[in-house]
Amino acid sequence: MVRLRTVDATLRAEVLGLSPAPEDVRFSGAGADVLPAAERHATRAAVAIVRDGQAVGFLALDPADPICAYAAPAPSVALRAFFVDERFQRQGVARAALRRLPGFVRDGYPEAEIVVLTVNVTNPVAMGVYRRAGFEDTGRLHLAGVHGPQHVLVLALR
Ligand SMILES: CC(C)(COP(=O)(O)OP(=O)(O)OC[C@H]1O[C@@H](n2cnc3c(N)ncnc32)[C@H](O)[C@@H]1OP(=O)(O)O)[C@@H](O)C(=O)NCCC(=O)NCCS
Repeated sequence: MVRLRTVDATLRAEVLGLSPAPEDVRFSGAGADVLPAAERHATRAAVAIVRDGQAVGFLALDPADPICAYAAPAPSVALRAFFVDERFQRQGVARAALRRLPGFVRDGYPEAEIVVLTVNVTNPVAMGVYRRAGFEDTGRLHLAGVHGPQHVLVLALR
């Protein structure tokens, strides 16, 4: 059973040890970087992807991220730093986590109407995962990333 849980002290230690494959870290970051970064960030919530009680991946939610501008004027939440640890990939974890996402966002951000994310144009695997989870490609390109252009995807919550 895959669930999303706000990172607490127990999950924190596990998330710090999680990482995608080294060549994919540029797409999302690794737990040791993105968790402390989220904790330093006033509006960013750190969320663990938990399977059978064990942290296996991570995502961050931020209702004040600059990419929320792509959903304006609708209130939105940005999905950032989404990854599944290399050891647990190709087991349906991302698919299950994204199935949980709308309910989790509605609970935490009842005013939000849209989830917005950016995905690198050289990351077709993630693009496919998001599209199959119901995200739509806005056709816009986010050009501010240090790792090149990114597609802007949105998921309507209602
Ligand atoms: C993208 C990522 C989160 C997918 O996680 P995952 O748990 O392995 O994905 P799942 O097992 O749930 O697979 C979901 C779908 O993607 C496909 N898929 C997953 N990894 C794949 C790969 N390396 N190559 C081809 N297809 C792949 C699966 O076949 C599955 O397809 P289906 O829904 O038709 O059955 C993971 O590869 C990852 O962490 N990548 C590095 C970080 C990253 O790119 N994050 C996105 C930042 S925007």
